[in-house]
Parts: sequence; structure tokens; C-alpha cells
Amino acid sequence: MNKIALGVTSSISIYKAADIIRLFQKEDLAVQVIMTERATNFIQPEFFTALSGQPAVVRLFDQKQRPIEHITLASEVSLLVIAPATANIIAKLASGLADDFLSTFYLAVKSPVLIAPAMNEAMFLHPQTQANIKKLKDLGVVFVEPESGYLACGQKGSGRLASPEKIVQLGLRLIRQQPVFKDKLIVVTAGPTREALDPVRFLSNRSSGKMGYELAREAYERGAEVVLISGPVELRPPAGVKVERVISSEDMRQAVLKYYDQASVVIMSAAVSDFRFSQAGREKIKKENLPSAVRLEKTPDILEELGRLKRGQLLVGFAAETSEAKARAREKMEKKKLDLIVVNDVSQQDIGFESDDNEVWLLWPDGRERLISKTTKRKVSQEILTEIGAMFNGRKGNN
Ligand code: PMT
Repeated sequence: MNKIALGVTSSISIYKAADIIRLFQKEDLAVQVIMTERATNFIQPEFFTALSGQPAVVRLFDQKQRPIEHITLASEVSLLVIAPATANIIAKLASGLADDFLSTFYLAVKSPVLIAPAMNEAMFLHPQTQANIKKLKDLGVVFVEPESGYLACGQKGSGRLASPEKIVQLGLRLIRQQPVFKDKLIVVTAGPTREALDPVRFLSNRSSGKMGYELAREAYERGAEVVLISGPVELRPPAGVKVERVISSEDMRQAVLKYYDQASVVIMSAAVSDFRFSQAGREKIKKENLPSAVRLEKTPDILEELGRLKRGQLLVGFAAETSEAKARAREKMEKKKLDLIVVNDVSQQDIGFESDDNEVWLLWPDGRERLISKTTKRKVSQEILTEIGAMFNGRKGNN
């Protein structure tokens, strides 16, 4: 099913529902908006009808609807999101009241339900509201915690609707999660590292982090717990993912090792610098004292160390090559005891570093290989995660 229902209620943050619709549509999901009567005091149904391309529903038993629309629609959607959700709708759902389309629909729907509250802080923290939320959580309803900030009442506090990105990301996870990723920790590294010469200058690698961020997002959507260990990049991390920011290869090494014991999978898509300065000055080197030569040394090879310490984790490495790509990648796979290596040709301008697209070969220790022809890094990530899922579901790795 690729339709979701979006319930909107009478909160000042109702305008954010427009972004929620757009983000779901970007994922090829049709959105059916259901409004409460009071929500129409803020925005007319025509607004949501135009945005979603489907008539927004407000009343039960409207003549324009199909007969028993709430039951028919309930069998068509894969998710019910209520955002923004007022204290009133939460109380109604918690007590099983069914006196309008949205509350009746909630009782009819069998899909997962996601609620994003938005209200004044005192109302949100009121023991009655909290008891209602707990009751719904116990029934399996998932909540997106509201954020702190300025509220419509002019006060600062908790109760602001979570960001549309966060709501949609969690919604997608509820639809797309797969049992094989449940309770699994996936560690993804992304971006470059920076090796300091002094507090101002550094040695680094090309990398925007796009490949790694897409992998982290995809792993989260499939239901894994995700830690994204990121070098310095300009990207906004995917919602729901735990982010550890690092600078140098040594920082990255320590961050990966911190999670390694609990991890089921480590995906090293970071462009870790292979070299660093043998000596890094604490003071900025003055122009007049510019050294005629600087000494370099190798950085620790994080993946090689993970290969040595491996206790059942799946290790996925990347290989950034410019020639003899597959042969070199196979050497790396063997040396680092990898279960899968993803090879990209970084001499091409339209794939690899910084581009939104990539073309990769996947190589396995048993000699199997697969080409993923040029496509978006999003799609490449989906294919890689599908292969990782299949490896968990039975195939042997390099243990
Ligand atoms: O970030 P983007 O702009 O989206 O670009 C994506 C990418 C091209 C950076 C990515 O697809 C990629 O190829 N990442 C790996 C880059 C790299 O460092 O490749 P390598 O062949 O030098 O290293 C092999 C593997 O060892 C990699 O998994 C690397 O993370 C790891 N490594 C390398 C050096 C080191 N000291 N420790 C490591 O663990």
C-alpha cells in the first residue's frame, strides 16, 4: 500500500502539515488528509485538497464520500499520522471516543499510528495528558516528542510540534522496518577526516558525506538503531540517527571502537585520511617560519583493526579507486577481513566524491560480485542495505 492518512487538528502549527505532505509525496506516498472540524477554523479543507490531490475529509457520512468512508479508507492506508495533535484529540483517542471522522477512523485503522503532539507546555506536561499519552503508548501508538522553543502562547517551553523531517522519517520507519534489522546496531562512518598541521591548517580527503548519510538514513528506515560517525561535512543528519561528530582519523577510530562490541554491522564509507603530520604544532606556524618540508606518517587503519577484533560483526568497507578497481578492492577486502566491499571509481566526475549519484561494484569474499549501475546515492544505499539484510538472512560472511 502506498497511501498514508494524515490527521490534522486545531493547533497553530497546522501550517507545518503542508511540509509533512510534501515530504511523504517525495517518497511516492499518496496522502489522504483528515481534518477535525475545529482545524478548519485555521485552514480551509481546500488548501489540503489542493496540496494532496485528494479531497480532505472532515465529516462522517458526507454525501460526497464513498459509503462508510472511514472503514473503506482504513483498509487502504499503511500508516496513520496525526500531526499536529492537540491535547483534545489525544484525550479522545485514549478514551476510545468516536464522535468525528478522525477519532472514528483511529478505531477502524489497523496500520501503525504515529502521533506528533503540539500544545502549550503546561497542557503537555499535565498529568492527565501524560496519562493519556501513556495509555496510547501502551496500546502500541508511537509518539514523536514535541520540541522545546517559542510556543504560540508566547512562552518558551516544550510542546512545539517536532520538525516535519523528524515526523516523516519516523513514519517511514514504521512503514518500512524489516524484522532482520530489528534490535541491530548499525554503525556508519561518513565524510572526510582532518589531520592537523597546526590549529589552522590540515590535511584532508575529498568527501561530502552524502554516501554515508544516505546509508545511515536507509538503515534507520529499515528499523536498525543507527550511529553515524561523521567527519566535518555540511549535511543535516537524518532524523532519528545518533550522530557522533569527529575531526581526525584518531577521533573516528575511537568513536567506532566505542560502539564496536554492540554493533551488528559497521559500514565504513568515510574517506579516512591515510596520512597525518608526524608533528602537529599547537601554535599557528608563522609565514616566516614555514618549514621547507613536513614529515608524514600513516594513520591507524580503522577497518584493519576492526577486522582483527571481529566477533561476528558484519564489516562493510568501501574502496575509492582510480584504476584496477576490483583487483585492489579484493586485496583490501582480504587484508581487512571484510564481508562486503563497495567499490567506486573516484576518477569520474559524475559519481563518487561529492556527486548525488554513484556507480558501484559490490564484491564478496566468495567471489560473487554485482554492479549497481549509476543511480542516486539514495538508491545505491537501498541496494546495499538489501544485500546486508540478505547476508543476515543466511549468507556466510568473512568471519
Ligand atoms: O562522501 P561522498 O562525497 O558522498 O563520497 C563518497 C565516497 C567516494 C567517499 C565513498 O563512496 C567512498 O569511497 N569511501 C571510502 C573512501 C576511502 O577512504 O577509500 P580507501 O580505498 O582509501 O579505503 C578503504 C577502506 O578503508 C574504506 O572503507 C575506508 O573507510 C577505510 N579506511 C581507510 C583508511 C584508514 N586509515 N582507515 C580506514 O578504516
